[in-house]
Amino acid sequence: MKLISTNICKTSDIGVNDNLFGGTMLSWLDEAGGIMAACACRSTNVITLKMEEVLFKKPVKVKDQVRIYGKVNHIGNTSLKLSLEARSVNLAEKSEITVCSTCVVYVNVDENGKPKPINQDMGSCV
Ligand SMILES: CC(C)(COP(=O)(O)OP(=O)(O)OC[C@H]1O[C@@H](n2cnc3c(N)ncnc32)[C@H](O)[C@@H]1OP(=O)(O)O)[C@@H](O)C(=O)NCCC(=O)NCCS
Repeated sequence: MKLISTNICKTSDIGVNDNLFGGTMLSWLDEAGGIMAACACRSTNVITLKMEEVLFKKPVKVKDQVRIYGKVNHIGNTSLKLSLEARSVNLAEKSEITVCSTCVVYVNVDENGKPKPINQDMGSCV
């Protein structure tokens, strides 16, 4: 998997259980996946179609650094599917643990928001 982005859990990101709010994690994953999808099909017009099972495996606490990793699993005619993982970083031990994972489908769209074939001849920039 390739590192896409890094986020830090701020006090304003905390939900009612002293953990990172799940919706914030989803936002980080969706944004990172969108960046990877855009690079993979060399288009800025990619839109999220589907988020598959999301597993919140471990809690994220204030000050935790969270790295989002991704991998392109499949490129279809207009869509592509990515695996995404959020990993919390232990800076002292130089280690990471997976805190959340999912698969997301993005669709390449035209200026009217309609599915548009991905030009695979262009090659990926990821
Ligand atoms: C994304 C969107 C343009 C797709 O339009 P659509 O008419 O549903 O698209 P199609 O049925 O032609 O399918 C497009 C692609 O998605 C795939 N797809 C459709 N439904 C799917 C599903 N349930 N699971 C996986 N892939 C699916 C199709 O197989 C196709 O891929 P392919 O061309 O690689 O084979 C439309 O659904 C949309 O605008 N959704 C709202 C997106 C949005 O607002 N996202 C949140 C904010 S970013």
